[in-house]
Amino acid sequence: HMKGAIFDLDGVIVDTAKYHYLAWRSLAADLGFEFTEAHNERLKGVSRMRSLDILLEIGGLEFDEAEKAGMAERKNRRYVDYISRLDDSELLPGVREYLGRLKERGIGIALGSASKNAIFILNKLKITGLFDAVVDGNTVSRAKPDPEVFQTACRRLGLQPADCVVFEDAEAGVAAARAAGMRVVGIGKREMLAGADVVITGLHEL
Ligand code: G6P
Ligand code: MG
Repeated sequence: HMKGAIFDLDGVIVDTAKYHYLAWRSLAADLGFEFTEAHNERLKGVSRMRSLDILLEIGGLEFDEAEKAGMAERKNRRYVDYISRLDDSELLPGVREYLGRLKERGIGIALGSASKNAIFILNKLKITGLFDAVVDGNTVSRAKPDPEVFQTACRRLGLQPADCVVFEDAEAGVAAARAAGMRVVGIGKREMLAGADVVITGLHEL
């Protein structure tokens, strides 16, 4: 039975994908090419630097590491600009209720996100206090689909992988959870999340 619940952030707790998209699109525009919403699908669950590599590949451009670091920083400044205006009205439907219910049942709650802005976002949404452990892009070095982020979260909850259920909206995240030996609830479309044990449209369904 579930003793721990590990949540991805972007796309599960809050829809920040649209802000990532606006920030990447504006970087692409500076570089002289168009970055579409379909392109943006490829960046879901993917780390910042890997996302930049994909974006530059789409634009057919190459840069050295120092230039890329500058671009990633520029994108992040724009992104942080957007998310600094976030508040708890942007929590996805059912999130607060479901987390509250898990708390009442004594289930451990952890965040397992690739984002380096995770704590900032949780603070904006005023839900930081609900988490027993926060594992994010500053904590782990290997990105999803590597299982590290979920393994670390599980360990911090003091649990075994078989006790944990992961909530994920990205294919790479579902793969990471499976690689960690955990059950997975996919959030989104079944076609995209074939590896998940069940797929729902959002936490309001639970
Ligand atoms: C999540 C999002 C990705 C994002 C990544 C890193 O996985 O789904 O779109 O690129 O986090 O986020 P960061 O806030 O560190 O740039
Ligand atoms: Mg996600």
